Amino acid sequence: MRQLLLDIEDQLAWGKEAIERLRSEGKWDETGAASFCALLRSCIDAAGGIGGEAAKTAKLPVRVRSFTTYQLPKQSQRDPAMGGTTLYRSSMGIKFDDPVRERLVSMMRVRQEEMTAAELLAAVIWLQKGMPWTFYRDLARHLWDEIRHALFGQAALEAEGYDWHSRPQYTSDYDVNIEKMPGTQYAWLSIGIEEGAMKRPGKVGEFEFCRDEAKHPLMAQFQDYDWADEVTHAAFGRTWTPELFGEDLGYIREVAKHELDHFWGEVRKAHEVAAAEGKV
Ligand SMILES: [Fe+2]
Ligand SMILES: [Fe+2]
Repeated sequence: MRQLLLDIEDQLAWGKEAIERLRSEGKWDETGAASFCALLRSCIDAAGGIGGEAAKTAKLPVRVRSFTTYQLPKQSQRDPAMGGTTLYRSSMGIKFDDPVRERLVSMMRVRQEEMTAAELLAAVIWLQKGMPWTFYRDLARHLWDEIRHALFGQAALEAEGYDWHSRPQYTSDYDVNIEKMPGTQYAWLSIGIEEGAMKRPGKVGEFEFCRDEAKHPLMAQFQDYDWADEVTHAAFGRTWTPELFGEDLGYIREVAKHELDHFWGEVRKAHEVAAAEGKV
């Protein structure tokens, strides 16, 4: 609680400063701010105070947003300043003489593009209703791990001076699977991809390559963490996919195999189209 209070004090100081700045620049909307405060107060009153222990008002707050049900996008969105999205991997678009260097840099890019795995998990959490709380907790951890893996790749690329921002961003995990049922999406990732990566060469092979061949301490450390996380993700998949399907793991592995075939087929197709257009 002491830590939280320190954070909140910082936030309040930052907020007060921001308001002062806006006021001095004549950009502060006094009426808008007052009505937003009144709305927050009415929400808190309706909830019985911050702790929910006070009497609740029967006068419920007005709805200011959410007039329509949120719809997940059918395609991943990226900053328009970036180099667009693709369904195939484009690495850094550099010709390397050294194959070890080439594999190392493309591994950094694969990590950096794991945002697409994080987005798939966000979709599963959003779409899959009625599961026990521990399902959502496990998938939230899984989601955060994938974001961290993307940060690994970003940090490694930036440490070496590569401008990953201008490159097309691989969004297949989300874009190819979004039309599937949430359980199918999750089986594709956790059983198809992640359990599959437990077999050699897989995740251990990536780690050993960075440590022994590329001799890159930063990427070796990142891959070590990445591998450990993937062990957990495969275990989450084995726990939750049988619950989602009401079937045993043998059946789910068959489903995952079909989904992998479909997925790689789509990725191949996209690559062929780009090749025909002279883009790769
Ligand atoms: Fe990952
Ligand atoms: Fe993972």
